[in-house]
Amino acid sequence: MKKKLIAASILSANFACLGKEVNNVLKAGVDMIHFDVMDNHYVPNLTIGPLVLKSLRKYGIKCIIDVHLMTKNVDNLIIDFAKSGADIITLHTENSNHLDRSISLIKNYGCKAGLAINPSTPLNCLDYLINKLDLILVMSVNPGFEGQKFLNYIYKKIIQIKKIINKKKKNIFLEVDGGININNINQVAISGADILVIGSAIFKSTLSYNDIVKNMKLKLNKVFKKDNYKKL
Ligand code: DX5
Ligand code: ZN
Repeated sequence: MKKKLIAASILSANFACLGKEVNNVLKAGVDMIHFDVMDNHYVPNLTIGPLVLKSLRKYGIKCIIDVHLMTKNVDNLIIDFAKSGADIITLHTENSNHLDRSISLIKNYGCKAGLAINPSTPLNCLDYLINKLDLILVMSVNPGFEGQKFLNYIYKKIIQIKKIINKKKKNIFLEVDGGININNINQVAISGADILVIGSAIFKSTLSYNDIVKNMKLKLNKVFKKDNYKKL
């Protein structure tokens, strides 16, 4: 079983001092940074582009950065984000006209490729693409905003996707994004998530970043160090 990883979604960070915010959550113990890109067309919100990623790299951020593309016209952005320092680029099934081509483009530019699945997206989108994927991102909220409530019917979907991945016997990470907090983190992880994307529950916590991340990790460790979870 893979180690459970926490990816901090910078959508909830203070953009006036983004470099420091990223450094602080990394020091607090998060494993990677999740970089939400929105264009006000694919989703009704507007965020950040490749220039911001480039600036973070220039500032000295060396961790894994996972770019979650919630935009239309992804192909030019794939190239720009790869050149700006992305490690993983994740697309939605709905935002590329030719998904197979876009996934190949990500790989040709040396990044890991992810496919994001919206709450209402059926799983047959994986049938022909799974062999090319390094990561599957399950959306547990509708994409567009931080601070939404986790949709409980998505647990079933996480379990189903984990089974599909296990059958393939391929090293594909299962990432879950939206509405994760200290109260549901273990249920999401037990359902099969390898990477837990967490935004507001870290950046908007009343606790310090150190304390909230430490508490989340302690909670995960309580469950995942026990032998019975080897069966999952
Ligand atoms: C939603 C984004 C998420 C979101 C997570 O479209 O993809 O990454 O920012 O934020 P929380 O953890 O607040 O749901
Ligand atoms: Zn995201």
